[in-house]
Amino acid sequence: MKQRSPVYVSIASILTILLVVYYMFVQESTFLSSPYFWGTVVISIILAMIHHAIGDLIENDQFKKLTDAEKAQYLEDKKIPYFKALYASAFKKQSATEEKDILIDHGFDGIMELDNQLPKWWLGLFYFGVVYCVVYMISYFTTDFAHQYVEYDAEYKAQTASIAEYVKNTPPPTIDDAVYSPDNIAAGEEVFKTNCVSCHNAGGAGGIGPNLTDNAWINQPEKTLFKNVFNMVENGSPNNPAMQAFGKNGVLTGFDIQDVSAYIYHINQEQPPITVANGGAAPQGTPATWEK
Ligand code: HEC
Repeated sequence: MKQRSPVYVSIASILTILLVVYYMFVQESTFLSSPYFWGTVVISIILAMIHHAIGDLIENDQFKKLTDAEKAQYLEDKKIPYFKALYASAFKKQSATEEKDILIDHGFDGIMELDNQLPKWWLGLFYFGVVYCVVYMISYFTTDFAHQYVEYDAEYKAQTASIAEYVKNTPPPTIDDAVYSPDNIAAGEEVFKTNCVSCHNAGGAGGIGPNLTDNAWINQPEKTLFKNVFNMVENGSPNNPAMQAFGKNGVLTGFDIQDVSAYIYHINQEQPPITVANGGAAPQGTPATWEK
């Protein structure tokens, strides 16, 4: 008579299967707090225990029919812990008499073929693989499980939502707290190309608006160059309405102004000026001495 697997092994397998199936079909990990999930778990455990109890009854009945020697052997085997026996069974070799029983009758050249049973662990893995494949395919075709596009969409939405949240909670820089950062130059160049290039020309060389690469400035309301540019773009020029108040008018945000100010600082301080000889506009205003 065979030893049966203990009930906790069945319960552990059921729990694993339930987790996998819920994870695939429900998708959200919130199922762990759902009463349906725990309801299924409790019902499955009760069923497993009933199944095991019925198994006990059958086992008792069969036990009575055994001879005394078989009974003793069975009780002896039962003392070996389940996992130890399982491990040992993976390496069990048949005896010479057992080998005779499974010998297939077409040996050749002294080589014999045995009709061995497949190892249990191998069969177990095989059946698990087959069942898992079916469950996986059903969930793939009937739910959103493991679809790259769906996952991408969900992640994309989460990312944009978190960016929107960040922007909402981060007030745009003002002239008081804006800071120069080389990281903003590239973004500032884009703002410049869209909003400023029509008057200030490519690279800030100057046209309708003054040359922004030289050291001559008409307007010098602030002490540092970066803040001076911020001020001009925020408030516009008091003398010439052509240079509109991009910030006050709501055309550009504080972030845009911080970026474009970094760009102007960069072309003014970190690059050689575009002189008249190189196609730049002639200096306008008075030479500036900016504080650091
Ligand atoms: C419609 C044309 C026009 C556009 C567009 C324009 N500006 Fe101007 N800008 C001018 C003019 C004209 C002046 C000179 C104002 C004055 O004389 O006070 C000026 C002045 C400035 C000054 C001060 C220069 C100085 O010497 O005082 C800065 C800085 C400046 N602009 C930056 C920008 C930026 C950055 C943008 C884009 C966001 C921009 N401008 C878009 C026409 C323009």
